[in-house]
Amino acid sequence: MWSSSAMLQYLLAACLVSYGDAAATQCFHDNCYRAMFPTASPTQLSSATAFCRTYTTTVNTNTALTQFPTRATSACGSSPSKYSSICSCGVPPSPSPTCSTDTAANLLRNGDFECGLSPWTTYTIDGTTTSTLSSPGYNSATAFQFTIGSTTSSSSATARLIQTVYNLEPGATYTLTFETNITGPDAGFWGVMINGEPKRTVDARDNLGPGVWNVNSFDFVAGVGDPTEVKFEVITSQPGSVFELDKISLVKKSI
Ligand SMILES: *[C@@H]1O[C@H](CO)[C@@H](O)[C@H](O)[C@H]1NC(C)=O
Repeated sequence: MWSSSAMLQYLLAACLVSYGDAAATQCFHDNCYRAMFPTASPTQLSSATAFCRTYTTTVNTNTALTQFPTRATSACGSSPSKYSSICSCGVPPSPSPTCSTDTAANLLRNGDFECGLSPWTTYTIDGTTTSTLSSPGYNSATAFQFTIGSTTSSSSATARLIQTVYNLEPGATYTLTFETNITGPDAGFWGVMINGEPKRTVDARDNLGPGVWNVNSFDFVAGVGDPTEVKFEVITSQPGSVFELDKISLVKKSI
């Protein structure tokens, strides 16, 4: 059996997607535009892009969505129409979401892996652990999968899956929900970190046990600072084990 002290230790222990400059030529690059899309800063550029993607898709139905990037409010003010106009100038249209079943409220993109891997990024400890999109997924065609190779370490992560989200509201509560499937009762566990802070472990034996899909979920309060890194880690010492993930969603909790 996997030692619960490893999981306890985990909990006690303590990428940016760039879309390039696709500004339409008829747009006026005024102070507001430059505040929103400072070309010298890839981080701010991609956080503005992420904000705009959310904003332009929900502004018409959600007038409460006024979480403008703070660096832009002095130049742009707080009129939603200004942001709509700037956003439509500085950000290419969202890729068609027809492949994904993500809900509009999901702040992660491609949380069901139906659109491939992007914008998720992976890390593996060595060349023998592989990441693939596997089939079937949880009630869907595709899931994400790590197949653990020959070299494993029970003290640090063997493999990681990461996505960065933008413009979480500091102090607001968010719910992360995800499906896991781990083969073998002694394979180890998934660890989940938010901004490097361990939040949750899911052992192969938890819930319904190994080899089947288990739904997991936890709440966390967003801290100050943008962006927020959502990281899934495999902690294992069993070569050949398989760790799957699917249907990952990050949704703001309504009070
Ligand atoms: C869980 O993962 C294993 C390994 O990929 C797979 O053989 C099995 O079919 C999966 N279980 C379900 C319910 O999809």
